[in-house]
Amino acid sequence: MQLLPKIVLAAMSTLAIPMTGWSQMNTDMIPKPSSLNKLEGIYHYNPISEVIVSPAFQEIGTLLLEHPAIESVNVQLAVNNKPWSSGSIVIIEATEADQLDPSSYALNILPNGIVIKAWTPAQAISAIYSLIQLGYLQKDPTQITSLSITDSPRFDYRGLHLDVSRHFVTTDFIKKYIDLMALYKFNQLHLHLTDAAGWRLEIMKYPELTEKAAWRTHTNWKDWWHNGRQYLDRGNPNASGGFYTQKDAKELVEYASKRGITIIPEIEMPSHSEEVLAVYPELSCSGKPYRQGEFCIGNPETFVFLKNVLDEVLEIFPSPYIHIGGDEANKKHWKTCSKCQALMKKEGLQSVDELQSYAISQMDLYLQSKGRKLIGWDEILEGGLTAGATVMSWRGEEGGIKAANSGHDVIMTPGSHLYFDSYQTDPRTQPEAIGGYLTLEKVYSYDPIPETIHKDKQHHIIGAQGNIWAEYIPTTEHLEYMVFPRALALAEINWTAQEAKEWKDFKSRMQSQYKVLQDLHVNYYRPSYNVTYSVVYDDVQKRNIVALETEQIVTDNIRYTLDGTVPSLQSLRYTGPIILEKSTNIRAQYFLDSIAIGPMLEFETDIHKAIGKPVTYKSKWDGYKAQGVKTMTNGVQGGLTYQDGQWQGFTRPIDLIVDMQQIQPIERVAMNFMQMIGPGVYMPGEVEVLLSKDGVNYKSVGKVLNDISDTEPKLTFKRFEVKLDNPQTARFIQVKASNPKKGYLFTDEIIVY
Ligand code: ACM
Repeated sequence: MQLLPKIVLAAMSTLAIPMTGWSQMNTDMIPKPSSLNKLEGIYHYNPISEVIVSPAFQEIGTLLLEHPAIESVNVQLAVNNKPWSSGSIVIIEATEADQLDPSSYALNILPNGIVIKAWTPAQAISAIYSLIQLGYLQKDPTQITSLSITDSPRFDYRGLHLDVSRHFVTTDFIKKYIDLMALYKFNQLHLHLTDAAGWRLEIMKYPELTEKAAWRTHTNWKDWWHNGRQYLDRGNPNASGGFYTQKDAKELVEYASKRGITIIPEIEMPSHSEEVLAVYPELSCSGKPYRQGEFCIGNPETFVFLKNVLDEVLEIFPSPYIHIGGDEANKKHWKTCSKCQALMKKEGLQSVDELQSYAISQMDLYLQSKGRKLIGWDEILEGGLTAGATVMSWRGEEGGIKAANSGHDVIMTPGSHLYFDSYQTDPRTQPEAIGGYLTLEKVYSYDPIPETIHKDKQHHIIGAQGNIWAEYIPTTEHLEYMVFPRALALAEINWTAQEAKEWKDFKSRMQSQYKVLQDLHVNYYRPSYNVTYSVVYDDVQKRNIVALETEQIVTDNIRYTLDGTVPSLQSLRYTGPIILEKSTNIRAQYFLDSIAIGPMLEFETDIHKAIGKPVTYKSKWDGYKAQGVKTMTNGVQGGLTYQDGQWQGFTRPIDLIVDMQQIQPIERVAMNFMQMIGPGVYMPGEVEVLLSKDGVNYKSVGKVLNDISDTEPKLTFKRFEVKLDNPQTARFIQVKASNPKKGYLFTDEIIVY
């Protein structure tokens, strides 16, 4: 065995020569490190690896067993002046002489050894996972070309969430989740342990929580939710659910901690607590089970219960943060409850919002007295934010901005960009999800620091987190499918400097990461073959510019037609934006090795007569403003989601008038609608068109009835078009759409020819 004196290893990085020709090497790491230099030479792993560690990193050396080329490790403490054998993996504390930035680790791979230098165990763990990931990225993990990495994270808080209430998962699965989190440098696992669908943590003082409130009548949340929402006793032949014993939970805490991950428990209050109130109904305002999900805040016993529960939670979870929920309370019960009203009077609380704030501040003080910090969802801003709170901003970024500007720490987790329970491609091709539309690219585009945060408050954004609510995710295979690969985009958001992020480069590195996920048996969502499109209306030149795209890395395999025929290999090849001077039917198809794959895309682009014409709203939009009064005649179509700023939402029947500004022939009038029944979006019952020359006297010229079932579970689009057999002349066009379901109507344009 060749022996190297310590001084030689320490100097190796400076001896290394910049690399010239090692093209085999794959460095497609995610998250992208701050700096990576390839060097000359190859390091060969020994399946039985000598690992030399500083005392501070003694626990960490065995993590190298997760490297695909390492079978066993012989971990030894570094001893001053004792030479290390060649080929060792050395993990030692940085010193001033290393001139390493305090937030960074350094990883040097050289032909005769690997040296990691770090200031803290957390940094050393990040470095080890860089090495492990590099192992998975290589065709042959037993060797790696020399390189040098210096790396540090953008944010301290790098979170993923897991909802184990809606569908219980085993501790083995949570360990797999933790392993994957560690590989991508997440450091916070937010466990949503309690909710109506089941209480998941053993609490010694309240055994009913796991004897009863952890079990329900149906395995699938959706079946349970729509069939009475009843709880059952553990052991009942029909009981579905589960919970973690305190021993299980402690084991998870330790498993995560070893991998640099803190588990943050969430115990929901004062709402989302139907399961608790089913077994302790005296803690609700009505005193009866199955009536409400909110604790009675006026009942002092509520706080006795919550503090007792937290006492046990704090014992299990050493995390600095404890999440207390705080979202979506239905505060109406408190308005009529004598105990709540008496408390409000006594404390001088002016509203039920302030009553909720009172409850949160009680928990804040309690947690502070135990040396912990409270996290709550952004609703805890309503009624006044308690002093010690950190806010999780989920209903967009507004709550987070407000909290940060007032000096509170914030974790960004906006539904628009970081809710991984939403659809990730065309919902018509996907298993049922809760709604939304969040592609990998959109996740990647997110920057947790909004522009409107004051410069001197930006440091209050401590990081971002992806949330995975599991109502529609009954299995762990499905869970993996929703989380991956979107979690990788989030990993890079949290780790890599904003200016170093680039979508095309990320997409290209993802091609290598898919192989890593395959090797780790992750049921990830594969990049789609679906052709998607965007249309930009050029208002000046009166033309549409159409872009086609897929999630495939090879982009020139799309063929399209503009004449209504089915695309074939002989059709036009898509090479760049298509410019259309007139209304066109476009069909497009992806071809893989000359075989059509994925659904054919078909859509209309309209250049119609009403573009730019003023619209009068006899009934106004509700919530979903889109582009305001311009929306209906801006020439721009809505896409696959009603949140894209082109679909305008109405909760009443639609009644709009377009002023064509001069009398002219009208041949057809059309409006597009979408249906997505999960979030309550329906087709109109009928669309009627009326014409007028003078804006006073209108005459109905036709109606189109809906023929889409209101129980159709898939996202559906329909163009309601009234064709006039005998073209008529008019200046004013009135469109009316009925709303028999009293849900949301979404429409994007009034199309006139
Ligand atoms: C939440 O999604 N209700 C925090």
